[in-house]
Amino acid sequence: MLQSSQLRFSRAFPFQQTSGFEAMEIEEGFETGKNHLEKNLIDPPKIHRLEESVVNRIAAGEVIQRPVSAVKELVENSLDASSTSINIVIKDGGLKLIQVSDDGHGIRYEDLPILCERHTTSKLSVYEDLQNIKSMGFRGEALASMTYVAHVTVTTITGGQLHGYRVSYRDGVMEHEPKACAAVKGTQIMIENLFYNMTARRKTLQNSADDYAKIVDLICRFAVHHINVSFSCRKHGAARTDVHTVATSSRIDAIKSIYGVSVSRDLIEVTASANDPSCLVFNMHGYISNSNYSAKKMTMVLFINDRLVECTALKRAIEVVYAATLPKASKPFVYMSIILPPEHVDVNVHPTKREVSLLNQERIIETIQTTIESQLRCSNSTRTFLTQQSSQVGPLGTVKHLEQKKSNKDSDPNSSPSGFKSQKVPVNKMVRTDSKDPAGRMDAYLQDTSIKQKEKSSLSSMR
Ligand SMILES: Nc1ncnc2c1ncn2[C@@H]1O[C@H](COP(=O)(O)OP(=O)(O)OP(=O)(O)O)[C@@H](O)[C@H]1O
Ligand SMILES: [Mg+2]
Repeated sequence: MLQSSQLRFSRAFPFQQTSGFEAMEIEEGFETGKNHLEKNLIDPPKIHRLEESVVNRIAAGEVIQRPVSAVKELVENSLDASSTSINIVIKDGGLKLIQVSDDGHGIRYEDLPILCERHTTSKLSVYEDLQNIKSMGFRGEALASMTYVAHVTVTTITGGQLHGYRVSYRDGVMEHEPKACAAVKGTQIMIENLFYNMTARRKTLQNSADDYAKIVDLICRFAVHHINVSFSCRKHGAARTDVHTVATSSRIDAIKSIYGVSVSRDLIEVTASANDPSCLVFNMHGYISNSNYSAKKMTMVLFINDRLVECTALKRAIEVVYAATLPKASKPFVYMSIILPPEHVDVNVHPTKREVSLLNQERIIETIQTTIESQLRCSNSTRTFLTQQSSQVGPLGTVKHLEQKKSNKDSDPNSSPSGFKSQKVPVNKMVRTDSKDPAGRMDAYLQDTSIKQKEKSSLSSMR
């Protein structure tokens, strides 16, 4: 009787029985190659359709990668709803609770049943709309994704209503009929127990301490760009907010209140644009740190068509400029907003919408890089040094004052390496500063005196 593996073997090689030699060879190799062949000849696994809940949870894991991705989606929804005030509360780095409240237009009662189903949106109707999309959202996936990996509760009220509604969702569906409740203007969305059903993800995140910091950083970025919206972010139970901004009309004021005066005082305004419909159309406006600013890490806040995105190529291009212009260790601060015709931007390239793809990206980056380079060079020639200098007014060494001087080494041949013009100091007031420095050696002064004496004598002899 043939063993099952032999049976499979003879089916696969029907010539096995035809000649004794071939058969022997095959028989010999049979034992050694048995395991290998068995592996290869195993019946292919059957393909089956995944349960919808599994599909949804896998997709949700891509859209909501960590707490900060959920916060980004919720804040973008609030911005899309024309909110002027957005408040965020976080518990346990977002794993226990993410609560985002806004004063936007709210959600209609009749839309609540499908609110958290996948691919339900108020922002896109046909595919072509994507070419002109101005809202942050367009896929109708964010809220749905959250319901597959967390418990979601929505409280909302629309204009002119006496009360709002509260409803909870799980796996895309309402858990109960919406309940009437008291509500202030807008929408509040609570995400509880994030990744409760994704053990590995939850464990990795529980060990990471920096999720709250990531959320704060995200809110700061939104606040710098959306200066007409007030933002706040705090930990659950804390009275103190970690971000608190009020609507303002000045970007510099916004940067000052968020990143501090140490950043805002050292910024240069930059603009670049191109308007050649045949190849390049864009408008860039931003603030970049000048040569007086120095930080250990680069901060790059980039918005493209009002979308908070990352663009590694642009970031690198800017880094290259700074590396060539500034001392090695100092990293810049960059806020930049680029506006392009919507049809030149593909927003649908990343599951978290973190990246976009631009038409003529390389040329845009090149133009921005050249602009920044020239602006930075100008600022470098007016680099500021904080130095102590003896006042000319008071007796030497008694009255001192801090003075900011501009150094322009290239254009001013009299300037010293520190940026000061050389001043004539009487020889009797000179002090020896550094024995290794030729200027500080005593013989330098002695030589100088002897030359002067020689000059004097030659002058007198001429007279
Ligand atoms: N804070 C909010 N205020 C008003 N409406 C909201 C709010 N959040 C969500 N919505 C409504 O719920 C819908 C679904 O939101 P969701 O974030 O899931 O999808 P989206 O924003 O349309 O697209 P995307 O998945 O790309 O974010 C939105 O289209 C919007 O109509
Ligand atoms: Mg959305």
